[in-house]
Amino acid sequence: MTRSQNFSRPVRSFVRREGRMTNAQKKAIEELEGKYGIDGAQKISDGCPFAKGTNIHLEIGFGDGEALISLAKSNLESGFIGIDPHRPGAGRVLRKIDRDEISNARVIIGDAAELLPALFQPQSLTRILVLFPDPWPKKRHNKRRLINQAFLSDLADTLKPGGILHIATDWQDYAESIIETLISVTDLKNTSETNDYCPRPSWRPETKYERRGLSLGHQVFDIGSIKNES
Ligand SMILES: C[S@@+](CC[C@H](N)C(=O)[O-])C[C@H]1O[C@@H](n2cnc3c(N)ncnc32)[C@H](O)[C@@H]1O
Repeated sequence: MTRSQNFSRPVRSFVRREGRMTNAQKKAIEELEGKYGIDGAQKISDGCPFAKGTNIHLEIGFGDGEALISLAKSNLESGFIGIDPHRPGAGRVLRKIDRDEISNARVIIGDAAELLPALFQPQSLTRILVLFPDPWPKKRHNKRRLINQAFLSDLADTLKPGGILHIATDWQDYAESIIETLISVTDLKNTSETNDYCPRPSWRPETKYERRGLSLGHQVFDIGSIKNES
């Protein structure tokens, strides 16, 4: 076996495009990541180190931060953590958080699939949101999709008993595969009585990629699941 065969690269759900960063985005990360980031050396456990209440909500793949910021502003007692590897987007979101003086939001720049178990103690999160994950629609790219069984199991581990995982997508075959995969994750129970989709919850903000999907005539699928109490 050659060295390159031995050290195979993980299949990632994103492609790095650092070249497109503006100076303002770079500056925002340099100046604000320390203030609104998370100290990776300290695992987050029960309780929130930067909000009054104990509830911590995690948004995976926050994009331009529309949902993260809107939720943080309307739930001041809870802590909101967003994780996304896209540095230009993270720079923009850090700037907005600082401009609007949002003290209960934090940003992690990175890959949720890689970092999650190291960042959070089991049973530490109240709610996890994944809104419009990259669809990777071509069959040969499906393996890049973020939501798979191993990832759902990691998410289930980090949720408190009774905690909620909410996913939305405008790609029907992705939605169907998420429903299928959820069945095999015994710690999570679909909140739909028919074991498929739920109405869009009133608290879930609309996002850029949702509007984009709707403008293309796509249907939006909301999938809620709850972590077992025992
Ligand atoms: C299609 S965009 C959706 C953005 C936003 N949620 C929305 O609905 O407008 C998908 C986002 O997921 C992020 N993403 C992809 N893989 C990720 C991963 N492994 N961990 C965290 N975020 C990821 C991308 O960088 C991108 O910002």
